[in-house]
Amino acid sequence: MRTTFYLSALLLVTQSVLGRRISVRNLSKRDTTQQQQQQQQQQQQQGTSTSSSASSSSSGTSDNEYSDEYGVLQFQNYGFAGSYYKVKSMDLSDSECSCELDTSKPYYFDGPTSPLNEEVSIHIRGPLNLQEMGVYTADSYTYGSTSGSWTRQAYYDSSSGTATNVTFLGNVGDKYDCVGKALNYVGSDGVTKADSSTVLGNITLESDQEFAIYSSVKCGDSGWSKDCGVYRSGINAYHGFYGETKMFLFKFLAPLDSSDNTTITSYDMPAIWLLNANIARTSQYPTNSNCSSWTSGGGEFDIFEVMNSTENLNFYSTIHDYQGTGDIDTGIVLDGYIERTPNSVMIGGVVFGSDGTATVFMSNSTSIDDTISNSDLNTWISDVETSEKAATYSLSSVSNQASSSKGEAGLDASFGNSFWFNLLTLFLGSLTLV
Ligand SMILES: *[C@@H]1O[C@H](CO)[C@@H](O)[C@H](O)[C@H]1NC(C)=O
Ligand SMILES: *[C@@H]1O[C@H](CO)[C@@H](O)[C@H](O)[C@H]1NC(C)=O
Ligand SMILES: *[C@@H]1O[C@H](CO)[C@@H](O)[C@H](O)[C@H]1NC(C)=O
Ligand SMILES: *[C@@H]1O[C@H](CO)[C@@H](O)[C@H](O)[C@H]1NC(C)=O
Ligand SMILES: *[C@@H]1O[C@H](CO)[C@@H](O)[C@H](O)[C@H]1NC(C)=O
Ligand SMILES: *[C@@H]1O[C@H](CO)[C@@H](O)[C@H](O)[C@H]1NC(C)=O
Ligand SMILES: *[C@@H]1O[C@H](CO)[C@@H](O)[C@H](O)[C@H]1NC(C)=O
Repeated sequence: MRTTFYLSALLLVTQSVLGRRISVRNLSKRDTTQQQQQQQQQQQQQGTSTSSSASSSSSGTSDNEYSDEYGVLQFQNYGFAGSYYKVKSMDLSDSECSCELDTSKPYYFDGPTSPLNEEVSIHIRGPLNLQEMGVYTADSYTYGSTSGSWTRQAYYDSSSGTATNVTFLGNVGDKYDCVGKALNYVGSDGVTKADSSTVLGNITLESDQEFAIYSSVKCGDSGWSKDCGVYRSGINAYHGFYGETKMFLFKFLAPLDSSDNTTITSYDMPAIWLLNANIARTSQYPTNSNCSSWTSGGGEFDIFEVMNSTENLNFYSTIHDYQGTGDIDTGIVLDGYIERTPNSVMIGGVVFGSDGTATVFMSNSTSIDDTISNSDLNTWISDVETSEKAATYSLSSVSNQASSSKGEAGLDASFGNSFWFNLLTLFLGSLTLV
Protein backbone atom coordinates (compact mmCIF):
# COMPACT_ATOMS: atom_id res chain seq x y z
CA MET A 1 0.00 0.00 0.00
CA ARG A 2 2.68 2.40 1.09
CA THR A 3 4.90 1.51 -1.85
CA THR A 4 2.02 2.06 -4.19
CA PHE A 5 1.32 5.41 -2.60
CA TYR A 6 4.89 6.62 -3.06
CA LEU A 7 5.07 5.33 -6.60
CA SER A 8 1.81 7.07 -7.48
CA ALA A 9 2.98 10.26 -5.85
CA LEU A 10 6.29 10.05 -7.66
CA LEU A 11 4.57 9.44 -10.96
CA LEU A 12 2.25 12.39 -10.50
CA VAL A 13 5.02 14.71 -9.44
CA THR A 14 7.04 13.59 -12.45
CA GLN A 15 4.11 14.17 -14.73
CA SER A 16 3.37 17.60 -13.27
CA VAL A 17 6.95 18.69 -13.68
CA LEU A 18 7.02 17.61 -17.29
CA GLY A 19 3.55 19.02 -17.97
CA ARG A 20 2.35 15.74 -19.39
CA ARG A 21 -1.19 15.61 -20.55
CA ILE A 22 -1.80 11.91 -20.70
CA SER A 23 -2.16 10.07 -17.45
CA VAL A 24 -1.27 6.41 -17.79
CA ARG A 25 -1.74 3.52 -15.45
CA ASN A 26 -0.23 0.17 -16.34
CA LEU A 27 -2.25 -2.49 -14.58
CA SER A 28 -0.68 -5.65 -13.28
CA LYS A 29 -1.60 -8.97 -14.79
CA ARG A 30 -0.14 -10.83 -11.88
CA ASP A 31 -3.32 -11.49 -9.98
CA THR A 32 -4.00 -15.17 -10.11
CA THR A 33 -7.35 -16.78 -10.24
CA GLN A 34 -6.61 -18.68 -7.04
CA GLN A 35 -5.87 -15.52 -5.18
CA GLN A 36 -9.03 -13.93 -6.45
CA GLN A 37 -11.07 -16.93 -5.47
CA GLN A 38 -9.64 -16.79 -1.99
CA GLN A 39 -10.84 -13.23 -1.78
CA GLN A 40 -14.23 -14.20 -3.07
CA GLN A 41 -14.55 -17.09 -0.67
CA GLN A 42 -13.69 -14.76 2.15
CA GLN A 43 -16.39 -12.39 1.00
CA GLN A 44 -18.96 -15.11 0.64
CA GLN A 45 -18.15 -16.42 4.08
CA GLN A 46 -18.46 -12.97 5.55
CA GLY A 47 -21.53 -12.28 3.51
CA THR A 48 -20.61 -8.63 3.72
CA SER A 49 -18.95 -8.04 0.39
CA THR A 50 -16.08 -5.61 0.59
CA SER A 51 -18.53 -2.92 1.50
CA SER A 52 -16.76 -1.91 4.68
CA SER A 53 -14.14 -0.36 2.47
CA ALA A 54 -16.82 1.86 1.01
CA SER A 55 -16.76 3.71 4.28
CA SER A 56 -13.06 4.28 3.85
CA SER A 57 -13.35 5.36 0.25
CA SER A 58 -12.52 8.88 1.42
CA SER A 59 -8.99 7.51 1.60
CA GLY A 60 -9.10 8.18 -2.11
CA THR A 61 -8.53 11.80 -1.18
CA SER A 62 -4.85 11.07 -0.64
CA ASP A 63 -4.72 10.32 -4.34
CA ASN A 64 -6.87 13.29 -5.21
CA GLU A 65 -4.56 15.74 -3.53
CA TYR A 66 -1.94 14.78 -6.08
CA SER A 67 -4.27 14.71 -9.06
CA ASP A 68 -3.80 16.93 -12.04
CA GLU A 69 -5.76 17.74 -15.15
CA TYR A 70 -5.11 15.78 -18.36
CA GLY A 71 -6.44 15.60 -21.88
CA VAL A 72 -6.24 11.81 -22.00
CA LEU A 73 -6.48 9.13 -19.30
CA GLN A 74 -5.21 5.70 -20.18
CA PHE A 75 -5.12 2.34 -18.44
CA GLN A 76 -2.68 -0.17 -19.92
CA ASN A 77 -2.71 -3.94 -19.50
CA TYR A 78 -6.47 -3.79 -18.84
CA GLY A 79 -7.88 -7.31 -18.67
CA PHE A 80 -6.68 -10.36 -16.79
CA ALA A 81 -7.35 -14.02 -16.17
CA GLY A 82 -9.87 -14.30 -13.38
CA SER A 83 -13.36 -15.35 -12.46
CA TYR A 84 -16.51 -14.10 -10.85
CA TYR A 85 -19.79 -15.56 -9.65
CA LYS A 86 -23.02 -15.22 -11.55
CA VAL A 87 -26.42 -15.17 -9.88
CA LYS A 88 -27.97 -18.65 -9.81
CA SER A 89 -31.38 -17.88 -8.37
CA MET A 90 -33.46 -14.98 -7.10
CA ASP A 91 -36.32 -15.48 -4.67
CA LEU A 92 -38.56 -12.41 -4.73
CA SER A 93 -41.52 -14.06 -3.08
CA ASP A 94 -41.53 -11.68 -0.10
CA SER A 95 -40.33 -8.12 0.33
CA GLU A 96 -37.11 -9.14 2.11
CA CYS A 97 -36.24 -11.59 -0.67
CA SER A 98 -32.96 -13.44 -1.24
CA CYS A 99 -30.54 -14.39 -3.98
CA GLU A 100 -27.93 -17.05 -4.51
CA LEU A 101 -24.67 -16.91 -6.45
CA ASP A 102 -23.39 -20.07 -8.07
CA THR A 103 -20.15 -20.27 -6.14
CA SER A 104 -19.63 -23.85 -7.32
CA LYS A 105 -19.33 -22.69 -10.94
CA PRO A 106 -17.12 -19.61 -11.15
CA TYR A 107 -17.32 -17.85 -14.50
CA TYR A 108 -13.78 -17.76 -15.89
CA PHE A 109 -12.59 -14.95 -18.13
CA ASP A 110 -9.30 -14.04 -19.77
CA GLY A 111 -7.86 -11.67 -22.32
CA PRO A 112 -7.69 -7.95 -23.10
CA THR A 113 -10.37 -5.80 -21.42
CA SER A 114 -11.79 -8.78 -19.54
CA PRO A 115 -14.16 -9.06 -17.76
CA LEU A 116 -15.68 -6.19 -19.79
CA ASN A 117 -14.92 -8.08 -23.00
CA GLU A 118 -18.35 -9.48 -22.18
CA GLU A 119 -21.44 -7.47 -23.07
CA VAL A 120 -21.80 -4.20 -21.19
CA SER A 121 -24.57 -1.72 -20.40
CA ILE A 122 -24.16 2.07 -20.38
CA HIS A 123 -25.21 4.15 -17.37
CA ILE A 124 -25.81 7.88 -17.12
CA ARG A 125 -26.21 10.00 -13.95
CA GLY A 126 -27.25 13.64 -13.80
CA PRO A 127 -26.93 16.50 -13.97
CA LEU A 128 -26.51 15.47 -17.58
CA ASN A 129 -28.11 16.07 -20.96
CA LEU A 130 -27.09 13.28 -23.37
CA GLN A 131 -27.19 14.67 -26.88
CA GLU A 132 -25.56 12.00 -29.00
CA MET A 133 -24.05 8.57 -28.44
CA GLY A 134 -22.35 5.95 -30.60
CA VAL A 135 -21.22 2.40 -29.79
CA TYR A 136 -18.55 0.91 -32.08
CA THR A 137 -16.69 -2.32 -32.60
CA ALA A 138 -13.53 -3.13 -34.56
CA ASP A 139 -11.77 -6.39 -35.36
CA SER A 140 -8.72 -5.20 -33.53
CA TYR A 141 -7.20 -1.95 -32.35
CA THR A 142 -3.78 -0.99 -31.11
CA TYR A 143 -3.43 2.40 -29.46
CA GLY A 144 -1.92 4.91 -31.89
CA SER A 145 -2.66 2.82 -34.95
CA THR A 146 -3.69 4.80 -38.04
CA SER A 147 -4.96 1.94 -40.20
CA GLY A 148 -8.27 0.15 -39.89
CA SER A 149 -11.61 1.52 -38.78
CA TRP A 150 -14.56 1.20 -36.39
CA THR A 151 -18.16 0.34 -37.27
CA ARG A 152 -21.08 1.88 -35.41
CA GLN A 153 -23.39 -0.72 -33.84
CA ALA A 154 -25.75 1.57 -31.96
CA TYR A 155 -26.62 5.25 -32.16
CA TYR A 156 -28.69 7.87 -30.37
CA ASP A 157 -29.19 11.49 -31.39
CA SER A 158 -31.53 13.58 -29.25
CA SER A 159 -31.84 16.47 -31.72
CA SER A 160 -33.40 14.23 -34.40
CA GLY A 161 -34.97 11.73 -31.98
CA THR A 162 -33.00 8.92 -33.64
CA ALA A 163 -32.31 5.75 -31.66
CA THR A 164 -30.85 2.72 -33.46
CA ASN A 165 -30.15 -0.50 -31.58
CA VAL A 166 -30.64 1.17 -28.19
CA THR A 167 -33.15 0.59 -25.39
CA PHE A 168 -33.57 3.12 -22.60
CA LEU A 169 -34.12 1.46 -19.23
CA GLY A 170 -34.08 2.56 -15.61
CA ASN A 171 -34.56 1.23 -12.09
CA VAL A 172 -38.19 2.30 -12.14
CA GLY A 173 -40.23 -0.89 -11.60
CA ASP A 174 -41.44 -2.94 -8.63
CA LYS A 175 -39.38 -2.66 -5.50
CA TYR A 176 -38.04 -5.43 -3.23
CA ASP A 177 -35.72 -4.96 -0.26
CA CYS A 178 -32.81 -7.05 -1.49
CA VAL A 179 -32.73 -5.81 -5.08
CA GLY A 180 -34.35 -2.36 -5.19
CA LYS A 181 -36.50 -1.35 -8.16
CA ALA A 182 -36.80 -3.41 -11.31
CA LEU A 183 -35.07 -2.48 -14.56
CA ASN A 184 -37.87 -1.41 -16.89
CA TYR A 185 -38.48 0.83 -19.89
CA VAL A 186 -38.33 4.54 -19.15
CA GLY A 187 -40.48 7.09 -20.93
CA SER A 188 -39.24 10.09 -22.88
CA ASP A 189 -38.43 11.84 -19.58
CA GLY A 190 -35.83 9.14 -18.79
CA VAL A 191 -37.01 8.61 -15.22
CA THR A 192 -40.58 7.27 -15.14
CA LYS A 193 -41.74 3.79 -16.13
CA ALA A 194 -43.11 3.22 -19.63
CA ASP A 195 -45.01 0.28 -21.14
CA SER A 196 -42.83 -0.04 -24.22
CA SER A 197 -39.41 0.96 -25.48
CA THR A 198 -39.41 4.75 -25.86
CA VAL A 199 -36.90 7.16 -27.35
CA LEU A 200 -35.71 9.77 -24.86
CA GLY A 201 -36.66 13.37 -25.35
CA ASN A 202 -34.03 16.06 -25.06
CA ILE A 203 -33.95 15.76 -21.29
CA THR A 204 -31.51 16.86 -18.62
CA LEU A 205 -31.27 14.41 -15.74
CA GLU A 206 -31.09 16.04 -12.32
CA SER A 207 -28.52 15.13 -9.68
CA ASP A 208 -28.80 11.46 -8.67
CA GLN A 209 -31.23 10.60 -11.48
CA GLU A 210 -30.05 7.81 -13.75
CA PHE A 211 -30.95 5.78 -16.77
CA ALA A 212 -29.33 2.82 -18.51
CA ILE A 213 -28.81 2.00 -22.18
CA TYR A 214 -28.87 -1.56 -23.54
CA SER A 215 -28.98 -2.76 -27.14
CA SER A 216 -32.32 -3.52 -28.80
CA VAL A 217 -31.54 -7.27 -28.86
CA LYS A 218 -33.98 -8.94 -26.47
CA CYS A 219 -32.90 -11.64 -24.05
CA GLY A 220 -34.40 -15.11 -24.25
CA ASP A 221 -35.81 -16.64 -21.09
CA SER A 222 -33.97 -16.31 -17.81
CA GLY A 223 -31.87 -19.39 -17.00
CA TRP A 224 -28.36 -20.40 -16.04
CA SER A 225 -27.45 -21.71 -19.49
CA LYS A 226 -29.57 -19.24 -21.47
CA ASP A 227 -28.28 -16.34 -23.59
CA CYS A 228 -28.57 -13.74 -20.79
CA GLY A 229 -28.14 -16.11 -17.84
CA VAL A 230 -30.39 -15.70 -14.82
CA TYR A 231 -32.11 -12.33 -14.60
CA ARG A 232 -34.72 -10.79 -12.36
CA SER A 233 -38.30 -11.62 -13.25
CA GLY A 234 -40.46 -8.69 -14.33
CA ILE A 235 -37.67 -6.70 -15.97
CA ASN A 236 -37.37 -5.72 -19.63
CA ALA A 237 -34.31 -7.84 -20.37
CA TYR A 238 -31.97 -6.86 -23.21
CA HIS A 239 -28.48 -7.74 -24.28
CA GLY A 240 -25.73 -5.21 -23.71
CA PHE A 241 -23.08 -4.23 -26.24
CA TYR A 242 -20.74 -6.98 -27.37
CA GLY A 243 -17.12 -7.11 -28.36
CA GLU A 244 -13.63 -7.20 -26.89
CA THR A 245 -12.61 -4.25 -29.06
CA LYS A 246 -15.24 -1.59 -28.56
CA MET A 247 -15.57 2.15 -28.32
CA PHE A 248 -18.21 4.36 -26.71
CA LEU A 249 -18.60 8.01 -27.71
CA PHE A 250 -20.81 10.61 -26.03
CA LYS A 251 -21.79 14.20 -26.74
CA PHE A 252 -23.29 15.76 -23.65
CA LEU A 253 -23.85 18.76 -21.47
CA ALA A 254 -23.26 18.41 -17.72
CA PRO A 255 -24.68 21.67 -16.34
CA LEU A 256 -24.14 22.64 -12.70
CA ASP A 257 -26.91 21.68 -10.30
CA SER A 258 -28.30 25.10 -9.49
CA SER A 259 -30.65 23.85 -6.76
CA ASP A 260 -28.14 24.48 -3.96
CA ASN A 261 -29.79 21.53 -2.23
CA THR A 262 -26.59 19.78 -1.22
CA THR A 263 -28.49 17.17 0.82
CA ILE A 264 -29.37 15.42 -2.44
CA THR A 265 -27.38 12.19 -2.83
CA SER A 266 -24.71 12.57 -5.53
CA TYR A 267 -25.37 16.31 -5.62
CA ASP A 268 -23.84 17.77 -8.78
CA MET A 269 -21.97 14.55 -9.58
CA PRO A 270 -22.64 13.67 -13.24
CA ALA A 271 -21.24 10.36 -14.50
CA ILE A 272 -21.11 8.03 -17.50
CA TRP A 273 -20.04 4.43 -16.85
CA LEU A 274 -20.23 0.84 -18.07
CA LEU A 275 -21.25 -2.29 -16.20
CA ASN A 276 -21.13 -5.94 -17.14
CA ALA A 277 -24.63 -6.19 -18.65
CA ASN A 278 -25.62 -9.01 -16.29
CA ILE A 279 -25.34 -6.75 -13.22
CA ALA A 280 -28.32 -4.44 -13.71
CA ARG A 281 -30.39 -7.33 -15.15
CA THR A 282 -30.27 -8.89 -11.67
CA SER A 283 -29.84 -5.79 -9.50
CA GLN A 284 -27.75 -2.64 -9.93
CA TYR A 285 -28.12 -1.54 -6.31
CA PRO A 286 -28.73 -4.66 -4.21
CA THR A 287 -28.66 -4.50 -0.41
CA ASN A 288 -27.64 -8.18 -0.58
CA SER A 289 -24.39 -8.63 -2.48
CA ASN A 290 -25.46 -12.11 -3.65
CA CYS A 291 -28.02 -10.42 -5.93
CA SER A 292 -25.50 -9.44 -8.62
CA SER A 293 -22.08 -10.39 -9.92
CA TRP A 294 -20.66 -6.95 -9.02
CA THR A 295 -19.03 -7.76 -5.69
CA SER A 296 -17.36 -10.89 -7.01
CA GLY A 297 -15.92 -8.89 -9.91
CA GLY A 298 -18.41 -8.89 -12.80
CA GLY A 299 -16.83 -5.62 -13.86
CA GLU A 300 -17.36 -1.88 -14.06
CA PHE A 301 -15.55 0.88 -15.94
CA ASP A 302 -16.22 4.50 -14.98
CA ILE A 303 -15.53 6.66 -18.02
CA PHE A 304 -16.34 10.16 -16.79
CA GLU A 305 -17.25 10.38 -13.11
CA VAL A 306 -17.46 13.30 -10.73
CA MET A 307 -16.56 11.55 -7.47
CA ASN A 308 -17.59 14.18 -4.94
CA SER A 309 -19.31 17.55 -4.97
CA THR A 310 -16.13 19.29 -3.83
CA GLU A 311 -14.27 18.28 -6.97
CA ASN A 312 -17.36 18.84 -9.05
CA LEU A 313 -15.47 19.90 -12.19
CA ASN A 314 -13.21 16.83 -12.32
CA PHE A 315 -14.10 13.70 -14.28
CA TYR A 316 -12.20 10.65 -13.01
CA SER A 317 -11.89 7.16 -14.52
CA THR A 318 -12.01 4.05 -12.36
CA ILE A 319 -11.93 0.28 -12.90
CA HIS A 320 -13.88 -1.82 -10.41
CA ASP A 321 -12.74 -5.44 -10.58
CA TYR A 322 -9.99 -7.54 -8.97
CA GLN A 323 -7.13 -6.67 -11.31
CA GLY A 324 -4.34 -5.44 -9.08
CA THR A 325 -6.56 -4.82 -6.08
CA GLY A 326 -8.61 -6.71 -3.51
CA ASP A 327 -10.68 -3.61 -2.77
CA ILE A 328 -13.35 -3.55 -5.42
CA ASP A 329 -15.29 -0.68 -3.86
CA THR A 330 -12.42 1.75 -4.29
CA GLY A 331 -11.18 0.04 -7.43
CA ILE A 332 -8.26 1.42 -9.39
CA VAL A 333 -8.74 5.16 -9.87
CA LEU A 334 -6.52 6.84 -12.42
CA ASP A 335 -4.51 9.61 -10.77
CA GLY A 336 -5.69 12.41 -12.98
CA TYR A 337 -8.87 13.92 -14.30
CA ILE A 338 -10.46 15.40 -17.38
CA GLU A 339 -12.14 18.79 -16.97
CA ARG A 340 -15.92 19.06 -16.84
CA THR A 341 -17.04 22.27 -18.56
CA PRO A 342 -20.59 22.83 -17.26
CA ASN A 343 -21.43 25.62 -19.69
CA SER A 344 -20.27 23.97 -22.90
CA VAL A 345 -21.06 20.75 -24.70
CA MET A 346 -18.43 18.05 -24.25
CA ILE A 347 -17.66 15.21 -26.62
CA GLY A 348 -15.44 12.20 -26.04
CA GLY A 349 -15.47 8.68 -24.72
CA VAL A 350 -13.45 5.53 -24.22
CA VAL A 351 -11.61 3.22 -26.60
CA PHE A 352 -10.96 -0.37 -25.51
CA GLY A 353 -8.13 -1.79 -27.60
CA SER A 354 -7.29 -5.41 -28.29
CA ASP A 355 -3.87 -4.39 -26.95
CA GLY A 356 -5.34 -3.99 -23.45
CA THR A 357 -5.44 -0.19 -23.53
CA ALA A 358 -8.48 1.68 -22.25
CA THR A 359 -8.14 5.27 -23.41
CA VAL A 360 -10.51 7.95 -22.12
CA PHE A 361 -10.46 11.27 -23.96
CA MET A 362 -12.48 14.43 -24.54
CA SER A 363 -12.02 16.21 -27.87
CA ASN A 364 -14.21 18.66 -29.75
CA SER A 365 -12.94 17.14 -33.01
CA THR A 366 -14.83 13.92 -32.25
CA SER A 367 -17.54 13.07 -34.74
CA ILE A 368 -19.98 10.24 -33.99
CA ASP A 369 -20.19 8.96 -37.60
CA ASP A 370 -21.21 5.56 -39.08
CA THR A 371 -17.58 4.63 -39.54
CA ILE A 372 -14.55 6.07 -37.82
CA SER A 373 -11.10 5.55 -39.24
CA ASN A 374 -8.22 4.97 -36.90
CA SER A 375 -6.36 7.81 -38.55
CA ASP A 376 -9.16 10.20 -37.48
CA LEU A 377 -9.40 8.68 -34.03
CA ASN A 378 -5.67 8.93 -33.58
CA THR A 379 -5.76 12.58 -34.62
CA TRP A 380 -8.55 13.41 -32.15
CA ILE A 381 -6.68 11.80 -29.29
CA SER A 382 -3.21 13.05 -30.12
CA ASP A 383 -4.57 16.58 -30.67
CA VAL A 384 -5.81 16.79 -27.11
CA GLU A 385 -2.43 15.61 -25.94
CA THR A 386 -0.39 17.95 -28.08
CA SER A 387 -2.60 21.00 -27.65
CA GLU A 388 -1.55 20.79 -24.03
CA LYS A 389 2.12 20.07 -24.82
CA ALA A 390 1.60 16.42 -24.10
CA ALA A 391 3.78 13.42 -24.00
CA THR A 392 2.86 9.88 -23.25
CA TYR A 393 4.25 8.05 -20.31
CA SER A 394 4.36 4.37 -19.55
CA LEU A 395 5.15 2.95 -16.19
CA SER A 396 5.43 -0.57 -15.03
CA SER A 397 2.80 -1.80 -12.69
CA VAL A 398 2.32 0.63 -9.83
CA SER A 399 -1.08 -0.85 -9.32
CA ASN A 400 -0.05 -4.25 -8.09
CA GLN A 401 -1.56 -3.93 -4.64
CA ALA A 402 -2.31 -7.62 -4.51
CA SER A 403 -0.21 -8.57 -1.51
CA SER A 404 -0.99 -5.54 0.62
CA SER A 405 -4.66 -5.49 -0.24
CA LYS A 406 -4.93 -9.05 1.02
CA GLY A 407 -4.37 -7.52 4.41
CA GLU A 408 -7.16 -5.09 3.71
CA ALA A 409 -9.49 -7.90 2.73
CA GLY A 410 -8.58 -9.44 6.07
CA LEU A 411 -9.58 -6.23 7.80
CA ASP A 412 -13.06 -6.67 6.48
CA ALA A 413 -13.46 -9.72 8.68
CA SER A 414 -12.85 -7.73 11.83
CA PHE A 415 -15.58 -5.35 10.74
CA GLY A 416 -17.99 -8.24 10.46
CA ASN A 417 -19.99 -7.07 13.43
CA SER A 418 -20.86 -3.84 11.69
CA PHE A 419 -22.72 -5.84 9.07
CA TRP A 420 -25.75 -3.57 8.98
CA PHE A 421 -23.57 -0.52 8.84
CA ASN A 422 -21.81 -2.16 5.93
CA LEU A 423 -25.06 -2.81 4.19
CA LEU A 424 -25.98 0.81 4.62
CA THR A 425 -22.63 2.02 3.34
CA LEU A 426 -22.85 -0.45 0.49
CA PHE A 427 -26.21 1.00 -0.37
CA LEU A 428 -25.11 4.61 0.01
CA GLY A 429 -21.75 3.81 -1.53
CA SER A 430 -23.34 2.12 -4.47
CA LEU A 431 -25.33 5.25 -5.15
CA THR A 432 -22.08 7.05 -5.64
CA LEU A 433 -19.63 4.32 -6.56
CA VAL A 434 -20.73 4.23 -10.10
C1 LIG B 1 -24.49 -14.99 0.21
O1 LIG B 1 -24.54 -16.38 0.01
C2 LIG B 1 -23.72 -17.13 0.89
C3 LIG B 1 -23.80 -18.59 0.50
O2 LIG B 1 -23.28 -18.74 -0.78
C4 LIG B 1 -24.19 -16.94 2.31
O3 LIG B 1 -23.35 -17.63 3.20
C5 LIG B 1 -24.17 -15.44 2.65
O4 LIG B 1 -24.71 -15.23 3.92
C6 LIG B 1 -24.97 -14.67 1.63
N1 LIG B 1 -24.79 -13.23 1.85
C7 LIG B 1 -25.81 -12.45 2.14
C8 LIG B 1 -25.45 -11.00 2.34
O5 LIG B 1 -26.96 -12.85 2.22
C1 LIG C 1 -13.70 15.47 -2.37
O1 LIG C 1 -12.36 15.48 -2.80
C2 LIG C 1 -11.61 16.56 -2.27
C3 LIG C 1 -10.26 16.56 -2.89
O2 LIG C 1 -9.63 15.35 -2.69
C4 LIG C 1 -11.54 16.45 -0.77
O3 LIG C 1 -10.84 17.56 -0.27
C5 LIG C 1 -12.93 16.41 -0.20
O4 LIG C 1 -12.87 16.14 1.19
C6 LIG C 1 -13.77 15.35 -0.85
N1 LIG C 1 -15.15 15.51 -0.38
C7 LIG C 1 -15.87 14.50 0.08
C8 LIG C 1 -17.26 14.84 0.50
O5 LIG C 1 -15.44 13.36 0.14
C1 LIG D 1 -31.36 20.04 -25.80
O1 LIG D 1 -31.33 20.54 -24.46
C2 LIG D 1 -30.13 21.25 -24.16
C3 LIG D 1 -30.15 21.57 -22.68
O2 LIG D 1 -31.31 22.25 -22.34
C4 LIG D 1 -30.00 22.46 -25.04
O3 LIG D 1 -28.80 23.12 -24.77
C5 LIG D 1 -30.00 21.99 -26.49
O4 LIG D 1 -29.98 23.10 -27.35
C6 LIG D 1 -31.24 21.16 -26.78
N1 LIG D 1 -31.11 20.59 -28.12
C7 LIG D 1 -32.05 20.73 -29.03
C8 LIG D 1 -31.78 20.10 -30.34
O5 LIG D 1 -33.07 21.36 -28.82
C1 LIG E 1 -26.95 -4.25 -31.87
O1 LIG E 1 -26.03 -4.45 -30.79
C2 LIG E 1 -25.76 -5.81 -30.54
C3 LIG E 1 -24.94 -5.89 -29.26
O2 LIG E 1 -23.68 -5.31 -29.41
C4 LIG E 1 -25.08 -6.44 -31.72
O3 LIG E 1 -24.86 -7.80 -31.46
C5 LIG E 1 -25.98 -6.28 -32.94
O4 LIG E 1 -25.31 -6.74 -34.09
C6 LIG E 1 -26.38 -4.84 -33.14
N1 LIG E 1 -27.37 -4.76 -34.20
C7 LIG E 1 -27.23 -3.99 -35.25
C8 LIG E 1 -28.35 -3.99 -36.19
O5 LIG E 1 -26.24 -3.29 -35.43
C1 LIG F 1 -33.52 18.67 -0.90
O1 LIG F 1 -33.37 17.33 -1.32
C2 LIG F 1 -33.87 16.40 -0.38
C3 LIG F 1 -33.48 15.01 -0.87
O2 LIG F 1 -33.81 14.83 -2.22
C4 LIG F 1 -35.37 16.58 -0.26
O3 LIG F 1 -35.90 15.66 0.67
C5 LIG F 1 -35.65 18.00 0.21
O4 LIG F 1 -37.05 18.26 0.21
C6 LIG F 1 -34.98 19.01 -0.71
N1 LIG F 1 -35.10 20.35 -0.14
C7 LIG F 1 -35.51 21.38 -0.85
C8 LIG F 1 -35.52 22.71 -0.13
O5 LIG F 1 -35.84 21.29 -2.03
C1 LIG G 1 -16.00 22.60 -27.50
O1 LIG G 1 -17.07 23.09 -28.28
C2 LIG G 1 -18.02 23.84 -27.54
C3 LIG G 1 -19.15 24.22 -28.47
O2 LIG G 1 -19.76 23.09 -28.94
C4 LIG G 1 -17.33 25.07 -26.94
O3 LIG G 1 -18.26 25.78 -26.16
C5 LIG G 1 -16.19 24.61 -26.07
O4 LIG G 1 -15.48 25.73 -25.57
C6 LIG G 1 -15.24 23.73 -26.82
N1 LIG G 1 -14.28 23.17 -25.91
C7 LIG G 1 -12.97 23.21 -26.12
C8 LIG G 1 -12.13 22.58 -25.08
O5 LIG G 1 -12.48 23.74 -27.10
C1 LIG H 1 3.32 -2.88 -18.00
O1 LIG H 1 3.88 -3.61 -16.93
C2 LIG H 1 4.30 -4.94 -17.28
C3 LIG H 1 4.83 -5.62 -16.03
O2 LIG H 1 4.02 -5.35 -14.95
C4 LIG H 1 5.39 -4.84 -18.32
O3 LIG H 1 5.76 -6.15 -18.72
C5 LIG H 1 4.88 -4.08 -19.53
O4 LIG H 1 5.93 -3.90 -20.45
C6 LIG H 1 4.36 -2.72 -19.10
N1 LIG H 1 3.75 -2.09 -20.26
C7 LIG H 1 4.07 -0.86 -20.60
C8 LIG H 1 3.39 -0.36 -21.81
O5 LIG H 1 4.83 -0.19 -19.97
